[in-house]
This record gives sequence, C-alpha cells and structure tokens, in this order.
Amino acid sequence: MFHDLLQWLQDVPGATDGDPSTSWSQQLAGSLHLWALTEGTHVLSLMLFAGTILMVDLRMLGLAFRNVPYSTLNNKILPLTIAGFVLVMLTGLVLFFSNPVHYYHSVWFRAKMIFLVLAAANIFWFHFRVHRTVAEWDDRPSPPAAVKLAAGVSLASWIFVIIFGRLTAFVFFECENMPPGSLGYAFAECESEMRAANEAAEEYSEEPTEETGEETVDEPAADESTEAPAEAPATEPQE
Ligand code: HEM
Repeated sequence: MFHDLLQWLQDVPGATDGDPSTSWSQQLAGSLHLWALTEGTHVLSLMLFAGTILMVDLRMLGLAFRNVPYSTLNNKILPLTIAGFVLVMLTGLVLFFSNPVHYYHSVWFRAKMIFLVLAAANIFWFHFRVHRTVAEWDDRPSPPAAVKLAAGVSLASWIFVIIFGRLTAFVFFECENMPPGSLGYAFAECESEMRAANEAAEEYSEEPTEETGEETVDEPAADESTEAPAEAPATEPQE
C-alpha cells in the first residue's frame, strides 16, 4: 500500500505530460546542488541536535557537569536541541522525498526509523514518568537509576539512528542485492519493489523504438547484445 503511494509521490506531483522524470521528486534527486545542500544541512543540524543531546545525557548519567543542576543545564540547552531537531526532521523529509520508493525499501532506512521511534518513545517515558521526580534529583551529581537508564537508551538510540543514516547511502543489502526469502529481503518488503522493477523493465522492453516503431524486445539490432539497456531496472534480484 505504502509502496504504491510513494511511487505516486515519486512520479506524479509536478510531472509534465505524464513524464515521471520531470516530477518534483525526480528533479530534486537529479539536481546539481539542491540535494547536496539539503543533505549538508541535514548533517550539520544533526550535529547541533546530537551534540546538545549528548551534553544533557552525560549530565543525566552523572558523567559530566556534575555540579550544575540538571534543570539549569537543560533549560539553557533545550532550545538549541529543538532547533536542531526541527531542522534535521525537515531536511530528512526533503531527502526522503527525493527517492521515496528506494528509501522505503532500504533495510538501513527502516532500521533508522525503528531507532527514531524508540528514541521518541524514550523521550515520552522520561518526560511523563521520570521527570516528575526532578525536584528530588535535580542537584544530585549522580541521578537515580531510572534517569540514567533514560539517558543510556537515548544515547544508544541516537547513535544507532546516526549509524543507520550513514549506512543508507551504501548499496549492500539493497533489494536487488539480497536473495529472495532472506531476512533482509522480507524486512525491506523487497517483493513489491522487485515486482515493480520487473513490470517497469517489461514496459521498457515493449516500448516501440522511435525510428522503426518496432518493439525493442522482439527486434534487437544485429550488432547489439541482447542484454537489457543499462538504464532499464534490474529484472532479477542479484545474489
Ligand atoms: C534526529 C534524527 C535524524 C538523524 C540523527 C539522522 C541522521 C542521518 C545521517 C547521519 C545521515 C547520513 C548523512 C551522510 O553522511 O551522508 C542521514 C541521511 C539521510 N537521512 Fe537522516 N537523520 C535523522 C532524521 C531523518 C528523518 C526524519 C528522515 C526522513 C523521514 C531522514 C532521512 C534521511 C535521508 C533520506 C538521508 C539520505 C540517505 C542517503 O545518503 O541516500 N533522516 N541522516
């Protein structure tokens, strides 16, 4: 279901004469500077976000700023964390929009989103449960175990979000590189991506050529190989 919705998002909005390569999404993906600027902003704002989170988490673990009350440090730093978070989310969504189908079926992107949800759940747990008792431990150099646990989960989940974010750029464990039936293949719902890729390849090979009006699949030129053109999507998952 999401696959079809994202395929639409990738191909339709902004497209002229029904040509998917002119859609906003594909123009962004193929842009000379815009994609790189967006990713650069994503990385810089995540440094602001992760750097400020790290300071507060280390205080909660009792490992840094032990003589500064938690609330004093948090009140100073929270606006910067929020600014970083808003920027990283906005730029992340724009990057996702540039190639939604690919990211939706990426093992790494999915792992990143799982840890993002875990980090968010941890924030809610800390805010609505642990933080209620802040008056009791605000000044303590070493806060209670529940506070340390929240800080540990926060640090670990953000570190994994960053690691998986970086790994998203790599091609290993992409659908076409994984054997059907493998764990990664099922986790990334590769079947629907490979089915769509096969359909696109079939459509491509059945398109009449401009010069002859003949279907390329039936009449390969005598001096050309019968392999699919380089631009055509892979028809079979490669192991
Ligand atoms: C605090 C939250 C986030 C963190 C810490 C984070 C972290 C990262 C990192 C480290 C990269 C790799 C940058 C590089 O070195 O090339 C990255 C790339 C990316 N992020 Fe995020 N991200 C976050 C939120 C999001 C969100 C909410 C989305 C979208 C819904 C998103 C989408 C992307 C995309 C599409 C890429 C590009 C992957 C590629 O190279 O093709 N990110 N992110």
